Amino acid sequence: MASPSVAVRRQVERLRDALIAEGDPKQAKALASILDNAEGVQEMAPSRLTISKTSLPGETLSPNTQVPVDRETSTPLAEIIFPRQINDQAPLFGPAITAAIKSLLEEWRDLEALARYDVAPPKTCLIYGAPGTGKTRLATWIAGQLDLPLVVARLDSLVSSFLGTSSRNIGTLFSFANRYRCVLLLDEFDSLAKLRDDPQEVGEIKRVVNALLQNLDSRKDVGLTIGITNHPQLLDSAVWRRFEIQLEVPRPDLAIRQDLTRQFMAPIDAPAAHQRLLAWLTEGATGAEIEALVRTYKRSLAFGGPEKIDLLDVFRHFATLHSGRISDEKKALVFGNQGELLLALHEAQDGKFSTAELAEITGRDKSTVSRQLAAAREKD
Ligand SMILES: Nc1ncnc2c1ncn2[C@@H]1O[C@H](COP(=O)(O)OP(=O)(O)OP(=O)(O)O)[C@@H](O)[C@H]1O
Ligand SMILES: [Mg+2]
Repeated sequence: MASPSVAVRRQVERLRDALIAEGDPKQAKALASILDNAEGVQEMAPSRLTISKTSLPGETLSPNTQVPVDRETSTPLAEIIFPRQINDQAPLFGPAITAAIKSLLEEWRDLEALARYDVAPPKTCLIYGAPGTGKTRLATWIAGQLDLPLVVARLDSLVSSFLGTSSRNIGTLFSFANRYRCVLLLDEFDSLAKLRDDPQEVGEIKRVVNALLQNLDSRKDVGLTIGITNHPQLLDSAVWRRFEIQLEVPRPDLAIRQDLTRQFMAPIDAPAAHQRLLAWLTEGATGAEIEALVRTYKRSLAFGGPEKIDLLDVFRHFATLHSGRISDEKKALVFGNQGELLLALHEAQDGKFSTAELAEITGRDKSTVSRQLAAAREKD
């Protein structure tokens, strides 16, 4: 694999896929990492689209490319993620965001058509929203869809530990990104804001912000730059203005929570009633929290088997171990009287749960559930 021919590489890829299909993920992973480290990865990656080399100039990044490091500590200033390492599955957002991202991708896919009209697609994009709402995943996915490597700069490591050398590091990082065809990701912008709260760092933060402004300007015509932050209000307004696109990622609503639950459940095909209940109970939660809940669900399946599972027990268990992640209202419901809970679900405004569904959820039969519902109604 030191310098594999196309045929050799294809064979190894086929072997890797066969191992995955036969349930030997460990060996498959070993092969995948050999493939990743081999030369010629970029050319080999199945082209999800081809941004032609003339419309996006620059050298091609390969796994052998030296990543710039901090001069004092030798810590890498960025991590590179290649398109083949990126999950193809699209993150899930509401229709407005999905459409906006789709149009951004379409513009990037046809740079030449835009060039004929002497326009360019937006090249700077700021994504902001609560932690765990899928911002990093979205940025990574965009790079994958554009078939470009992602150069991930962690601003926290770039700034915090190297006071005094941050501006130089920022310059080094940008020249690296400008030299290659890639998407530059500035994740966790907030780390700059943290610096600002420290009165001793006033000079430093000024230098860093200036370095960022200059470099963002110089990158304007080169390639796509994505910035991510949890605290947009703390961003310097001059930095904020530099971004052509400012995309707020909200917490998922009920419909998206259901889609997320389904996506995270794979390969398990959980009963629809279970998925619906998980989505219903996670009001106000983020994608990351739903992912954690689904993991708990899968663990209890692994131990209990599908016929023994009481979804409400699973949920109580999760809510106890992750008390900050579930709304107080839903917690009060699931830890309260079981009959009242069933009645609340049966009469829920945003999607009623039928007796059959409640039976599926509690692992009891329908007549038991009907009795519990009747008793709860009587108490009302
Ligand atoms: N809308 C979504 N679609 C798909 N997956 C999601 C979504 N939101 C969150 N996730 C999942 O939650 C996890 C965390 O997502 P991610 O790291 O992108 O969040 P983030 O917004 O960058 O959070 P932070 O601000 O803490 O860095 C990932 O495993 C991701 O798959
Ligand atoms: Mg993130």
